[in-house]
Amino acid sequence: MDEPHIDHWSPEEAVRYDEFAAQSFSWLYIERPSLQGLIEPCVNQQTVALDLGCGGGRIIELLRQVGVAEASIYGLDSNPTLLDMTRERFPGATVIRGELTEPPYGAIPEQAIDLVTAHLVLQYLGAAELSACLREVHRLLRSGGYLVVGLPHPMRVNSQTEADYFARRRHVVCAPWGGMTASFGLTIADYVNATIDVGFRIARMEEPEIAEDGLQHEDAENYSPGPTRLMMLLEANGYSA
Ligand SMILES: C[S@@+](CC[C@H](N)C(=O)[O-])C[C@H]1O[C@@H](n2cnc3c(N)ncnc32)[C@H](O)[C@@H]1O
Repeated sequence: MDEPHIDHWSPEEAVRYDEFAAQSFSWLYIERPSLQGLIEPCVNQQTVALDLGCGGGRIIELLRQVGVAEASIYGLDSNPTLLDMTRERFPGATVIRGELTEPPYGAIPEQAIDLVTAHLVLQYLGAAELSACLREVHRLLRSGGYLVVGLPHPMRVNSQTEADYFARRRHVVCAPWGGMTASFGLTIADYVNATIDVGFRIARMEEPEIAEDGLQHEDAENYSPGPTRLMMLLEANGYSA
């Protein structure tokens, strides 16, 4: 199944995703607490941030909440419907329409960024595209800047598809907001090594569990007992491979 709409959502799909994203169980009780914990120590009022695959702006909102000025936030995405929502919600931010597979990303100057976030978007990239994207991120980050990555956990993708963990092919899975979504079946080691190869240092990895206040929620059983997300905090070390 290689339908173009799976990676490039129609306006209706984009709206459905956005409505789902704001109140999804995994966002509220798994992803958001982990992301906040990783991002908060990396930011201050001077931080310049870039959110890759910004969608309707869920991560931009989080960046604002932890203290990043809206005027210092760039958001990049390929979906025009979601970008319009982000522009409307965050008029002070710089919103760029672009493809992660086609660097350079807008006209952002080299080493102008302190923090890049890429939440639930790098899974759409194959190995070569991922490396090109990480190289571009490394180029945009100042030395000592951070990249925060959130991924569907490769073990969860594997169990959803029942494919060989080492197949490294693009899987199409049911999206919780309806319809289908894609995930490239890279392994945990593939993701880790791709970041190391372009010059990142791994500062922290997390496989976040359900937060205390989500344990009694009716959706909790869909997100346990295995790992559902893989989160990484990576530091750009100034060396470009
Ligand atoms: C699952 S959503 C995540 C959105 C946002 N990061 C969040 O957490 O709400 C994936 C987003 O990545 C965008 N996207 C997918 N492939 C892309 C690509 N090659 N270049 C730019 N954006 C892409 C989609 O349009 C969508 O907004």
